[in-house]
Amino acid sequence: MKTTADLGDVRGKRVLVRSDLNVPLDGETITDDGRIRASLPTISALADAGARVVVCAHLGRPKGAPDPQYSLAPVASRLGELLGAPVAFATDTVGESARAVVDGLADGQVALLENLRFNAGETSKDEAERGAFADELAALADAYVSDGFGVVHRAQASVYDIATRLPAAMGGLVRAEVDVLQRLTRDPERPYAVVLGGAKVSDKLGVIDNLLGTADRLLIGGGMVFTFLKAQGHEVGTSLLEQDQLATVSEYLERAQRDGVEIVLPTDVVAATAFSADADHEVVAADAIPADRMGLDIGPESARLFADKLADCRTVFWNGPMGAFEMAPYAAGTEAVARALVEATKGGALTVVGGGDSAAAVRQLGFADEDFGHISTGGGASLEYLEGKSLPGIAVFDQAQEG
Ligand code: 3PG
Repeated sequence: MKTTADLGDVRGKRVLVRSDLNVPLDGETITDDGRIRASLPTISALADAGARVVVCAHLGRPKGAPDPQYSLAPVASRLGELLGAPVAFATDTVGESARAVVDGLADGQVALLENLRFNAGETSKDEAERGAFADELAALADAYVSDGFGVVHRAQASVYDIATRLPAAMGGLVRAEVDVLQRLTRDPERPYAVVLGGAKVSDKLGVIDNLLGTADRLLIGGGMVFTFLKAQGHEVGTSLLEQDQLATVSEYLERAQRDGVEIVLPTDVVAATAFSADADHEVVAADAIPADRMGLDIGPESARLFADKLADCRTVFWNGPMGAFEMAPYAAGTEAVARALVEATKGGALTVVGGGDSAAAVRQLGFADEDFGHISTGGGASLEYLEGKSLPGIAVFDQAQEG
């Protein structure tokens, strides 16, 4: 696997770095800059080596045309603050502004291009359209570094196609993330528990399927848990429910029992009259959710149960909040799981928090990155890795090596 060292002397070279700077924004305020901070080491190392660093990234899901609410301008400012050096910002991605900004870079300076997804070619399913955009990106640089772990599961122009057009290497962030995930998939220390939450079970089917073959315990919370409770025959009131996944979930429950994988579901939930912080809410048994209430968090008994189930684990992966943690009355379950991971980390377990939402949740709840073994910058990417899928942004390097 090529590293940046394989690019040779980068002094004076224009190096295009694909980072994942897809941060949560409230207006123009960045509410969690974790992904920007995680991207700094690769950018700084290249700048220190005298490269002219051209960073490219996406923000949100604009529809292939400029859309001011998804501008990377606030990210350029924050990147400059964190680097302690100005970051030149191009107001387009491969147009006049980009060319001028790149031409104006001196050795060791850094520029950021406007949102890649303002160009239809970036995410196009049409190979020729994607390739044409990758050609335009490639024309801006002499070498390419793939460092956006959060997007390696996307076969997009700046992730996949570009790597076949320039001398290319994997950045330190992608390598570090892959190293940790390999420890989860190749003979993890046991007991190995996976905590899954978040709204939709349909986003997690592939990973559950695969984990039933590798994990010892699967702890389930968040909106997705109500499809499990319903599959067990319980009424779930007005909670999130994916009716069309009931058969699949029932099959998982049966398979887990047959194969000796422990599936841990909440025994109580915080049930509210509406999806709102002010709504009337109470703790009820998980098998007695009133018809007019929705579950918005796991309850206190379940929080203790989940913490107990994690206490003796040597490896823990966690993706997805346990409840609607953005609202204080429904944050306790997510906080309890985060605390259990912190304790497990102190006891020497490998703990991995996967993903944008979960990472933002633990930071918002006041935990520090150092409290955990590893906080991944990729939600979808880490899940797809654990699912055993081939990730285009990684596979492209293997192909290049074979070719
Ligand atoms: C993420 O937020 O998980 C990554 O930045 C990928 O974004 P996407 O799901 O819009 O491709």
